[in-house]
Amino acid sequence: ASQTQQPRGALLVVEGGDRCGKTSQCTRLLDALHARGIDARAVKFPDRTSETGKLIDLYLKGAKDVDDHAVHLLFSANRWESMKHIRALLEQGTTLVVDRYAFSGVAYSAAKGLDLEWCKQPDRGLLRPDLVLFLDLDPIAAARRAGYGEERYERVDMQQRVRSNFMSLADGSWKILDASRTVDEIAADVSAAAIAAVEAARSTPLCSDLWC
Ligand code: TMP
Repeated sequence: ASQTQQPRGALLVVEGGDRCGKTSQCTRLLDALHARGIDARAVKFPDRTSETGKLIDLYLKGAKDVDDHAVHLLFSANRWESMKHIRALLEQGTTLVVDRYAFSGVAYSAAKGLDLEWCKQPDRGLLRPDLVLFLDLDPIAAARRAGYGEERYERVDMQQRVRSNFMSLADGSWKILDASRTVDEIAADVSAAAIAAVEAARSTPLCSDLWC
């Protein structure tokens, strides 16, 4: 007799420029999913705990200089090394709320002057997200937020280029949200879109075809 298969979890990605409120929205979203009895976990890229992550952390804090191409590949490797674990979690029915993904990889590296198409290649074949929630905030407003400027990329001119690169990557799986609103207003939109995506993912196969 065939066993009933567990419906898979959804791969939900939250993206945006620096200080757009992404991390608080990820926390709020996890709480909202748990409140509905949905098995969900947080994932964060870069994962600063792995070997590649430790190097990335030093780079972001300005403690180490790394060639732009090399650091781009490190960020991508940092995602690839988690793919097996991420796939296993999704297949066992766990929904993942992912704070940054390959879209950040491309948007930031291309903002430093690397060719956008070149930047997409190393992440080709990663798991395709079911939903990308993009928290859109004017970089000038972001710069007024607490803690801005502590890390390497937190400069308004850089963030303007990052924002326009993100926009050029958006497709039908993206939901672009105005992140200048209150935390509660944004959270309501985020959870509504996420819950719909969790439902839809139950009957859609998981695909390792990002940008294919
Ligand atoms: P965080 O502040 O969300 O931890 O992200 C760290 C910084 O790294 C942020 O400025 C975005 C940048 N970044 C990249 O340049 N490439 C990537 O692939 C990722 C995931 C983040």
